[in-house]
Amino acid sequence: MFKILDGKKIAEQLRCELTEKIFEFKKIKGKKIVLAVILVGQNHASQIYVRNKIKACEEVGITSLVHRLPEQVSQQELENLIKTLADDKSINGILVQLPLPAHLSQSALKLIPDSKDVDGFSENNVGKLCLNLPTTVACTPYGVMKMLEYEHIEIKGKNAVVVGRSNIVGKPMAMLLLNADATVTVCHSKTKNLKEQCLKADILVAAIGQAKFITADMVKDGATVIDVGMNRDENGKVCGDVDFENVKDKCAYITPVPGGVGPMTITMLMYNTYMAALRSEN
Ligand code: GUN
Repeated sequence: MFKILDGKKIAEQLRCELTEKIFEFKKIKGKKIVLAVILVGQNHASQIYVRNKIKACEEVGITSLVHRLPEQVSQQELENLIKTLADDKSINGILVQLPLPAHLSQSALKLIPDSKDVDGFSENNVGKLCLNLPTTVACTPYGVMKMLEYEHIEIKGKNAVVVGRSNIVGKPMAMLLLNADATVTVCHSKTKNLKEQCLKADILVAAIGQAKFITADMVKDGATVIDVGMNRDENGKVCGDVDFENVKDKCAYITPVPGGVGPMTITMLMYNTYMAALRSEN
């Protein structure tokens, strides 16, 4: 019998604890905790993500300042805004919602100081993760680790397979699992024997971006399956990268979509922002 990894429930509990910590911080320091969010253009998914991030900020007591820039904004204007926010001592975290419109370069993100990089995307923060040093970790893979920790799922010595090698999810996910003593395989679009690789996984993380890509024949009996995907199926219904209905009976643990990794991601953003505020006081 499989067990659902209920991201919504775990996220609620973590947010509850965080709300208390933030309340204490504000009381003792007499200061707000502020997250600046930059949203460029009209990308529908990005608008929903940003709306959810603002809602989570309200819930835990973080002040969010949203800067909505038009689709046609220039690189220079975007960079000027980031510089202004970087220099503003009252702002603890800066988040530029990705993807940016095609004419803009992500190099703008280099202007976010490491200390305000609540997404954990900066070269220094990623480098520290690789060196297993304390750092700010990208929210989605960090949220996955928190779920595994919450359910006491053992990682040490296990075979972990990450499908997807994005800078936002796949790569940092692989590093976190490696730092936690898993034996890690990273698969991607050019991997030849994907099914065989996946079948070795005690912990399988799907971060591909294709609806129901991971099918039952790719999953080992008793595996823990983590679905990072957020897609629409043939009927327009939200679904993950895992064919949940057919895969679930093979699993010890499985995350649903929605209600799995998604709520954890936003919770870790709140946590990273709180940590940035704490650091700014030291
Ligand atoms: N777009 C999709 N996921 C993310 C994320 O974690 N952070 C940012 N900034 N943009 C994203």
